[in-house]
Amino acid sequence: MKFGILTSGGDCAGLNAVIRSIGLYLLQNVKDVEIVGIPDGYGGLIRGESYPLKREDFEDILALGGTILRTSRQPFKKMTVAEEGGSRLSKMVANYKKMGLDCLFTLGGAGTHKTAALLSMEGCNVIGVPKTIDNDIYGTDVTFGFQTAVEVATEAFDRITTTARSHSRVMLVEIMGNKAGWLTLQTGIAAGAHMILIPEIPFSLDAVCNFVRARLDAGESCTMIAVAEGALLDYEAKFKKDQRAFIRTEQGETTVTRHLAEVITQTTGAEARYSVLGYLQRGGTPCAYDRLLCSRLGGYAARLAAQGRFGVTVASVGNKITFNALTEIAGKYKFVSPASEIVRFARSIGISFGDNA
Ligand code: F6P
Repeated sequence: MKFGILTSGGDCAGLNAVIRSIGLYLLQNVKDVEIVGIPDGYGGLIRGESYPLKREDFEDILALGGTILRTSRQPFKKMTVAEEGGSRLSKMVANYKKMGLDCLFTLGGAGTHKTAALLSMEGCNVIGVPKTIDNDIYGTDVTFGFQTAVEVATEAFDRITTTARSHSRVMLVEIMGNKAGWLTLQTGIAAGAHMILIPEIPFSLDAVCNFVRARLDAGESCTMIAVAEGALLDYEAKFKKDQRAFIRTEQGETTVTRHLAEVITQTTGAEARYSVLGYLQRGGTPCAYDRLLCSRLGGYAARLAAQGRFGVTVASVGNKITFNALTEIAGKYKFVSPASEIVRFARSIGISFGDNA
């Protein structure tokens, strides 16, 4: 049997650990197995590129950051658009057949799964593995790469807290997550943030400034605020992403974090600074939790392939590895519910979400 592996979308820690586990399972359990890597995510499949992966390619990559297969973003909305030589989808289906694949493993986030569902509907045997530091894939409790990002962001936040305390500053730490606030929420709680701003709970400038002022009045040495890159002002919540970006540009704002730091300084007189953690959260070696999760997800995905079970994505539910049909999860996201236990708990120990609750 011939198996292809690709990694698609933004990278994260643990991609190589999944590749390794898929490879090791197949080499151990499937006769006459052939495994190929497809470079640059769906980009490689569109171009029809692949190369053999041997046992030695899977050695020494468990703890390696990034992806040995490389990755790219291929927007879902362009997949079915007619282009020279046919749509990207039709090229991928043709190349899947030309390569003689019996199964394709797609390691990626929500966008990757949407495209995987299209390939599956076109008759390709596809198995997804849920990757993203955003933890926003529907149907799985956790995605691989998330826990490493929480660890990295928490350590960075701790370090920024000590300097904030020394200088009696308000410090805003911008954490990745455009649509979903999981990474900011969990990092914020783990690092002792006083305020957490996430896309799911729009904040008000007044509430944020009043909170900071109250802490200043109480003589607190610093105020630490975890801000998701996609955090929204209350009046922005009714607009779509493009409209929001337009309004912000018109107003001369770059990022929400920078804007907030300026407003806090002007309104409260506090010295506010911000730090953007950015790609630190995606790079480097996976933590032990992710190495274990990746190994289990990869091994399980390979087992499903060997059994001929396709059109699915693997998942971790209640600490058990299982799977969901691609048709059930593709196009759906998992968001933080403002009414969830974790948000209520955070509020109960005095963490503000910048709203008026
Ligand atoms: O992969 C998820 C993510 O890291 C988001 O948290 C972030 O908004 C986005 O990717 C950044 O994407 P890019 O790598 O294209 O800058």
